[in-house]
Amino acid sequence: MKLWGGRFSKATDGLVDDFHSSISFDQRLYRQDILGSIAHATMLGEQGIISEDDADRIVEGLKGILDDAEHGRITWHVDAEDIHMNVETLLTERIGDAGKRLHTGRSRNDQVALDMHMYARDACDETRTFLEELLRVLLDLAQTHLHTVMPGYTHLQKAQPVTLAHHLMAYVQMFLRDRRRFILAREEADVCPLGSGALAGTTYPLNRERVAELLGFKRITENSMDGVSDRDYLLDYLSAASLTMMHLSRFCEELILWSSHEFHFVEMDDAFSTGSSIMPQKKNPDVAELIRGKTGRVYGDLTALLTVMKGIPMAYNKDMQEDKEAFFDARDTLVKSLTVFTAMLRTVRFRTDAMRAGASGGFTNATDLADYLVKKNVPFRDAHRVVGELVAHCLTEGKALLDLSLEELQTFHPAFREDVYDAISLERCVDDRCLPGGPAPEAVEASIRHAREHLEET
Ligand code: ARG
Repeated sequence: MKLWGGRFSKATDGLVDDFHSSISFDQRLYRQDILGSIAHATMLGEQGIISEDDADRIVEGLKGILDDAEHGRITWHVDAEDIHMNVETLLTERIGDAGKRLHTGRSRNDQVALDMHMYARDACDETRTFLEELLRVLLDLAQTHLHTVMPGYTHLQKAQPVTLAHHLMAYVQMFLRDRRRFILAREEADVCPLGSGALAGTTYPLNRERVAELLGFKRITENSMDGVSDRDYLLDYLSAASLTMMHLSRFCEELILWSSHEFHFVEMDDAFSTGSSIMPQKKNPDVAELIRGKTGRVYGDLTALLTVMKGIPMAYNKDMQEDKEAFFDARDTLVKSLTVFTAMLRTVRFRTDAMRAGASGGFTNATDLADYLVKKNVPFRDAHRVVGELVAHCLTEGKALLDLSLEELQTFHPAFREDVYDAISLERCVDDRCLPGGPAPEAVEASIRHAREHLEET
């Protein structure tokens, strides 16, 4: 009979058991569930709500189940529905009547909320560790490539020269923001809902603070209805995960472009590329493509839970069981993507000559040529037009701006002097952009330092 079977005269239809049982996926909460129950039983004993003896028996029994579960010695049962009732049934089988007292003053509604708060807290910490690993790899790469000039793009058209370090540091900023989002998501998860009961709290003199303390929670929830029906903290994780995947996906898109024959800015390691079953020459960036693809999957998880939640009246409703697969899937997908991306990035070979050659073409120094004239007291709008005309001239002649002779330049504007060539060299274009946040090596080095300090501090 079901743990809740007292008022029923018929067994659940097999179809329903199969449909509503969550044990196939919530078994991964066994640790949180058992630790939560240990804390609850300990508190029940301390408060004299159950006897100290029963509390001890329950705690010992639960520890045994935890140990067996850690070693894969437990078979979970669909007819016990979910992880909560599986553990409780098993406990009672093992220790007898004392096991039946565990659920005093508790509902599965606050129990499952507790489990998910604990799981989400851990997920935030784990994800943050993987992000930090990626950040460190990026910071080391940036330090190595402070002087590696490459073209910067807007509209995927060459725009102005930057350095590889500067480009990589743009991603560092994104991943630092992601990291902060997981710190905030952890804060939101770090609140203990146990004691909310089914929805209206309980009449037993529970000590909610004590349970929170035993489980390392910073605080307890303030409203029992919200305590059982809130899933915002999961959505906080899912939205942080979606943004992180979006950043990974953009990076992957660039690596895919850069590894193409047309760009050839990077050479992907053989160990992180795949071949074609028909075209012998192919080496495909499948790993990067798959991460880009999996981004959609994580957005799907976020959208799924937002949609599940939007029409739910107070308080707990079974719809909310749908939070788990979405959350677990997003967490697993993100952690796997971060892991494989970081490993891949470690092995990418940057083709610095091709990057430099890329920066030399496409008139990436045109803005600097206009700025040169401005420094010779030409109004910017006039300088812009003159350089535009020079670019058009170069295009018909098949030349770069640096190929033009001084005489040629002077037919377009008399202010040009011999010092123009140095002023629009790639190095000067980069080095002169030395404001904070710019690509000049000393500015980038400062931001590498800030990022490292930030990682150390928080
Ligand atoms: N398996 C359920 C879930 O994940 C546990 C809570 C069930 N509560 C209930 N009143 N049916 O949401």
